[in-house]
Amino acid sequence: MNNKFHIITFGCQMNVYDSEVLKGILSQKGYSATSKPEDANLIIVNTCSVREHAEVRAIGRLNELSRHKLENPEVKLAVIGCMAQRLGERFLKEVPTLDLVLGTEELFKLPDYLEKKGKSPTVALSFSELQKIDSLPQRKNKFSSFVAISRGCENFCSYCIVPYVRGSEKNRKLSEIIKEVQCLTEYGCKEVALIGQNVNSYKDNGCDFAELLKEVSKTDIQRIRFMTSHPKDLSLKLIEAMSELEKVCEHLHLPLQSGSDKILEKMNRKYNSSDYLRLMDSVRGKVDNLSLTTDLIVGFPGEKEEDFQKTLEMVQRIEFDSAFMFKYSPREGTTAFLLKDDVPNEVKLERLQMLIELQKKIAQKKNKSLIGKTEEVLIDGKSKRDKSSWKGKGRSNKTVIIPKGEKDENLLGEIVKIKIADTDSFTLFGEIIKKR
Ligand code: SAH
Ligand code: SF4
Ligand code: F3S
Repeated sequence: MNNKFHIITFGCQMNVYDSEVLKGILSQKGYSATSKPEDANLIIVNTCSVREHAEVRAIGRLNELSRHKLENPEVKLAVIGCMAQRLGERFLKEVPTLDLVLGTEELFKLPDYLEKKGKSPTVALSFSELQKIDSLPQRKNKFSSFVAISRGCENFCSYCIVPYVRGSEKNRKLSEIIKEVQCLTEYGCKEVALIGQNVNSYKDNGCDFAELLKEVSKTDIQRIRFMTSHPKDLSLKLIEAMSELEKVCEHLHLPLQSGSDKILEKMNRKYNSSDYLRLMDSVRGKVDNLSLTTDLIVGFPGEKEEDFQKTLEMVQRIEFDSAFMFKYSPREGTTAFLLKDDVPNEVKLERLQMLIELQKKIAQKKNKSLIGKTEEVLIDGKSKRDKSSWKGKGRSNKTVIIPKGEKDENLLGEIVKIKIADTDSFTLFGEIIKKR
């Protein structure tokens, strides 16, 4: 029997991580991964529901795969993750060829469902408890790995589907997280990114996120990142931990979402623009060379021109290193869905374009000011554009390209110090001045 599987992943880091965990589980059960869907007997699509666009792309891909399955009836087709959780049985109407629809926790039991004879297709959506997992995740990036510290979210930002598809926040045990990090280092991993929808609210038996960072710092891992932080839970204690712990990178992803207090309130974000500015001053005051990144939404219901101008003003004032910028997408089931989606699509697009332009200029200016300075880079591969150049991530989380020069030496997985020679809005270019 052909035991090959192929996983296609949409969505955020949590989905990337879940796919890695599932790969580990399937490998332990005797399945083997293939990069070619046409060679696989089991095709899995891990889905995202955060915006309509992500769902449309997943459906498109599933329709293609359905045609493949009709020609190869032995192929099993599974849809897992957030969109599977959201649609459940309804998914079978959209894509009738599906064998399995597994939600955001049930997905880890995929091999059990495959082995179970009888009722097909199967839909399983329970997500009240964390699944116990014994196998090692199979990592995409050997040197920098995601480690989930919590799952779910209970902040209920009014636009967001995540609390509905991932359930309430469930924290992993500190001991389990430390074990996973230590184990990664034994396989050559240099950096971990601790992930959760809101890492700042982590709690295990009285241990909070700042203490978790301290504990992770005591392992053999060399660099630590984390995301995402919610401004309402960013404590002074965490800021201090960031500044004191050498292994923790000077990068903070702190979604602002909007610069207008009226919109922030309607979004149920629980902070206003002055709170955000105060936080920013406090972090920048404590953490040298901080790289600050954010998420922004344009066209939320009721967003007037003056509200959008406030977003532009905040972006101008704060000068983020980079930003993910989105058009508001109404999500059925959220409280904002009940509001009239009254910003016309052309206006949303226009605002998004203006915001992207402004942010690009800011990033260009900020990056230019780094020329001549140094940055510590973890090298994780070759540049896609120029195969003779090394590529990696700086502590700032910026992509760094190190053109040629050292081409004969294998620098994969090395942490090096570079001098920044040139920049554009997304990338730094530099020469190695020191190897660790
Ligand atoms: N937990 C994280 C990120 C969640 S989703 C946080 O709280 O920041 C990632 C980003 O997608 C969000 O920060 C938000 O900017 C965006 N997003 C979420 N729902 C959206 C929607 N309905 N329309 C447009 N963007 C959305
Ligand atoms: Fe969504 Fe808000 Fe939770 Fe982030 S904090 S996942 S935006 S509800
Ligand atoms: Fe999408 Fe689910 Fe992540 S909705 S953004 S894949 S938590």
